[in-house]
Amino acid sequence: MPSTWTEKRILLIVGGGIAAYKALELTRLLRKAGVAVRPILTQAGAEFVTPLSLSALAEDKVYSEIFSLTDEAEMGHIELSRSADLVVVAPATADLMAKAAGGLANDLASTTLLATDKPVLMAPAMNVRMWLHAATVRNLATLEADGVLFVGPDEGAMACGEYGPGRMAEPAAIFEAIMAILPGVRPLAGKRALVTAGPTAEAIDPVRVLTNRSSGKQGYAIAGALAALGAEVVLISGPTALPAPAGVSRVDVESAREMLTACEAALPAEIAVCVAAVADWRPADASGRKLKKSAGAPEPIALVENPDILALLSKDVRRPRLVVGFAAETHDLEANARAKLGRKGCDWIVANDVSVAGTMGGDDNAVAIVSAGGIERWERMAKAEVARRLAQRIAAEFA
Ligand code: CTP
Repeated sequence: MPSTWTEKRILLIVGGGIAAYKALELTRLLRKAGVAVRPILTQAGAEFVTPLSLSALAEDKVYSEIFSLTDEAEMGHIELSRSADLVVVAPATADLMAKAAGGLANDLASTTLLATDKPVLMAPAMNVRMWLHAATVRNLATLEADGVLFVGPDEGAMACGEYGPGRMAEPAAIFEAIMAILPGVRPLAGKRALVTAGPTAEAIDPVRVLTNRSSGKQGYAIAGALAALGAEVVLISGPTALPAPAGVSRVDVESAREMLTACEAALPAEIAVCVAAVADWRPADASGRKLKKSAGAPEPIALVENPDILALLSKDVRRPRLVVGFAAETHDLEANARAKLGRKGCDWIVANDVSVAGTMGGDDNAVAIVSAGGIERWERMAKAEVARRLAQRIAAEFA
């Protein structure tokens, strides 16, 4: 098995969609990491990015024609399909997914997907209605059953003006998924990590809950970044709308107490990162039956304190070697984070200022890492980048 990233090869199939431009950034990230990229550009893909820009970034020839004599003379399509460690399809259009699910082979991209004996990772990108169409849902299930791996799609505003799932995952997320799948040198290989993420939901009655605005984005990104460095990650997640990052096993929970039980079941682990916005309190007596409006406004709901998962993990007999907490603060960030470090007994607190508009639920974060050794302030950056840097810091701790 090759021992460094520089010996790894990706066959990158670029389908035809507005997201194709992101394949250029993905190529740049892979090349920067020393991974070789051999691009296949579909005819539709070439309507969105030029072979020249793809070839310049990949520093390789772009393959596009199945019946091209020069291409076939240099490398036959069967050989091409097996020349890589991993085949990545980004963007994976509805058409490419349908062809692959149906086993069609009428162009170079689909032939390659049928002929390959290597793992395949798809990053779907399409209009929300196409993504939710019964045919695509069927194709996705077929491909998953065939062992195809997926990253994304994300939910958000689309180029066509609609909103919903279907936006291709960001290049950084696809890059991480690739790193998580490829075998190679991974500083956290053999280490187990548990990550809590998202909000918790505390039942008032069978239909009503007490919850908060956490999106889970930062926790999910951290779980993905740790997996990309080789850790075996259990992501214990409250209710979110996010797909599990590649290579991560996810345990879905609702309440703080369920989250604690799942965390304890995930021990022993070397690393714990508690990112979840755990509800501090829960209704003392959740009603087993729906509270009816006709009964009038309920009495004030009595609340009782939830277990502090971070504090309990920090003093567990099986305490992970590194326990990291988060602190969402609106004021006195550093003083509060420092106090929290002492109170919870963890090793680091990643403090973030949630008073900054767009932090909660948004894509960016400005954090400071507080430990017994001091404080380190990081500039504002994408949550995915915060996750990567934090994972690197954690890996350095275990080096
Ligand atoms: N946390 C936890 N279990 C709880 C409450 C918090 O594991 N019941 C963890 C969070 O996942 C986070 C850290 O503790 O890593 C700090 O959470 P935060 O809400 O900022 O702190 P609190 O302890 O709730 O303090 P306060 O609300 O007073 O800021």
